[in-house]
Amino acid sequence: MSQILDVNMEIAGNRCRLSQRAGRTCDQPISFLMQQAVANPDMISLAAGLADQSCLPVEVFRNTLRPLLDDSDRARIALQYGTTQGDMRLRRLLVKHLEHLEGIPACEMALEAERMVVTTGSQQALQLVGDALIDPGDIVLVGAPDYFVYLGTLETLGAEIVGVAMDEEGMLVDALEDTFSELQRKGDLPRVKMVYCDSYYQNPTGVTLHESRRPAILDTVKRWSREGKIYLLEDAAYRELCYEGSCPRSIRSYDDDSTVILAQSFSKSLSPGLKLGYVVLPPELVDPVVGLKGNHDFGSSNLSQQILAQMLESGAVVEHAAELRQAYQRKQMAMLNALGENMPNLPIPSRWVRPTGGLYVWLCFPEGIDTTRSGPLYRECLNQGVLYVPGEFCFPPEGNQWVDHPLGCAQNTLRLTFGALPEDRVEQGVQRLAAAVRGCCT
Ligand SMILES: Cc1ncc(COP(=O)(O)O)c(C=O)c1O
Repeated sequence: MSQILDVNMEIAGNRCRLSQRAGRTCDQPISFLMQQAVANPDMISLAAGLADQSCLPVEVFRNTLRPLLDDSDRARIALQYGTTQGDMRLRRLLVKHLEHLEGIPACEMALEAERMVVTTGSQQALQLVGDALIDPGDIVLVGAPDYFVYLGTLETLGAEIVGVAMDEEGMLVDALEDTFSELQRKGDLPRVKMVYCDSYYQNPTGVTLHESRRPAILDTVKRWSREGKIYLLEDAAYRELCYEGSCPRSIRSYDDDSTVILAQSFSKSLSPGLKLGYVVLPPELVDPVVGLKGNHDFGSSNLSQQILAQMLESGAVVEHAAELRQAYQRKQMAMLNALGENMPNLPIPSRWVRPTGGLYVWLCFPEGIDTTRSGPLYRECLNQGVLYVPGEFCFPPEGNQWVDHPLGCAQNTLRLTFGALPEDRVEQGVQRLAAAVRGCCT
């Protein structure tokens, strides 16, 4: 697993005293996976959730940047520092963008530019919310499995992370209720500060929280907020990558503006290089989050913000997302078809969740197949030249043992992605994975 830092390591005979926070910080598993892909160029990485290089909107950026730089006054503003909370024109355009995504007028959702903070990717929004709410020993409930980078962030903050069971329609409302009851029975309810929910095409499972569960999850969190307020952090990073059916309203759209914190990103739907996201906060959290952001960077890149504002205004963001959806849908089909062709013929049965958007497919094997990084399947995959993310990275320490659970457990699951590869490489990658599974059975 990941490496824990020694906070008192010796360097040239001198004791280097790192903070407790640094000591709680592990190597992100994705760094190791990237390293393996770079070290072996023939390797097909079905692990790294990168954007498709060929779909990045170079022309759209060129057409936006040129006029911006040609206008010296606007260019000078863009090249100067901005404000910590984010450019007001951009925040107003973000309100409009969210209105468009939700299909509900902003005034009916208490959605105002004053409640928004523009962040350096949505990862910073998640980090800032964690910084604002979590002290060591506080409890955060997450899906089991869930987005492993944020699990790492929460570990650094010293949170106790408790997994809540999920199925193909997202977090189970009954399981959330049972988890709260159990925490109350143990006297731990006052330590619960937050529920984290990656609500669209979740990383790692591709699962979307079903429309009917959205108000129910919110209601459960509100009901259990009786020994101190519990927030629901909704991560909607993949929201705009919907390929099939309709995309549900956010959990926040059901809220009375008191409980849900909504984090969104332009990394998936536009460009990760722009590195911009935003968070919509209940009123009492705006000042704390802006204050903490001041410590981080006193404002995300103003140049990026001016570019994004221009692209939102011209409609380029929405247009590009529509094109991207078509390209990713083809790749997703390539992966699902390849799984359908290659996996059923194997001596070991497997099942996978069929996503309707996002970048990931989640594969579950029966108990006998060990998908962990130290297990035989991972080794055999390296021999065959294919990489996946072992499911073990995505499960919190508590809530990873449900072997017959619809989404499997830490030891027998894995995440695949089709984002960065052309369709033929996606197919070849799945063939190599199937060959590795066969290799493990002989
Ligand atoms: C579920 C989820 N949330 C948030 C992020 C953060 O992305 P960014 O900081 O680029 O917006 C990612 C990145 O992969 C993600 O998968």
